[in-house]
Amino acid sequence: MNRTRRLRKTEGIRRLVRENKLTIDDLIYPLFIEEGTNIEKEIVSMPGIKRWSLDTLHKELDEVVALDIPAVLLFGIPTEKDEIGKETWDDNGIMQQAIRYIKKNYPSLYVITDVCFCEYTSHGHCGVIHNNDVDNDATLLNLAKQVISHAKAGVDMVAPSGMMDGTIQAIREALDNTGFYDLPIMGYSVKYASAFYGPFRDAADSAPTFGDRRTYQMDPSNRDEGMREANFDDAEGADILMVKPAMSYLDIIRDLKNNFDRPIACYNVSGEYAMVKAAAAKGWIDGERVMMESLLSMKRAGADIIITYFAKEVAKVLARKK
Ligand code: PBG
Repeated sequence: MNRTRRLRKTEGIRRLVRENKLTIDDLIYPLFIEEGTNIEKEIVSMPGIKRWSLDTLHKELDEVVALDIPAVLLFGIPTEKDEIGKETWDDNGIMQQAIRYIKKNYPSLYVITDVCFCEYTSHGHCGVIHNNDVDNDATLLNLAKQVISHAKAGVDMVAPSGMMDGTIQAIREALDNTGFYDLPIMGYSVKYASAFYGPFRDAADSAPTFGDRRTYQMDPSNRDEGMREANFDDAEGADILMVKPAMSYLDIIRDLKNNFDRPIACYNVSGEYAMVKAAAAKGWIDGERVMMESLLSMKRAGADIIITYFAKEVAKVLARKK
């Protein structure tokens, strides 16, 4: 008889036949950095995750480096917002200051910036508004200014998250024309208009004041369209393709893994984090095991890289198991 249980009998044999593993090398940790001083503000719907100012950030970064997490993804929260989000390309904006601070004091840490406008615009949308909607091509011009400013500040990689058409091409050209041809781009290639971003919008203060993001982010019903989006980003030269959210979109992660020879990333978003934390706090699930199992499912689906608020906790679990 074929008996599959033979290879499950002991931990020794289970280790030998284990197909997928989560490692610290897979993880990117998001950071919320707010303009101001003395800020260390816990985000209510994301227990354990805080907003930091540049003078308190060392507490978090010391821990991130000690845990050997390879990379961080930065989000900036400015004090002043305006119609177009012009602080995003100000060389002294909060992002640019944060990049310089981290690269100077933690040179080994790989710094990625989320390139968008929603935290910086008074209306909370991801670009320039014309006729009650985001103007795609006007936004591309500002995106180019933003990435060049991040590049000058010394960022290691940029990750545009706004879902404007032609983003990768516009950014690649802008970087190449200013000598930053070596700077990689991680595309938020297949990003859905998702309710799972709820807690993030509190964290980053970026909820739209009117309408929603369904004219630029994807309809959760669509799978073929995800391939189309990824094809465009691949052709335009994105170095890494990302799927977002992760847990409810494992099919999309696998589609990309099967069809592209670029590294695939996924974003384990705020709502996914909040659900696990809330259920664990009630004692309804084993939070640590659910965390490890859900991140492992992303690896199994085909993700090479996972952006997750759990990064520090995962690092601690993996260190314990060594
Ligand atoms: C900005 C951006 C968002 C997230 C990452 N970048 C919010 C949005 O698109 O509304 C969500 C991240 C999360 O929920 O953890 N465009």
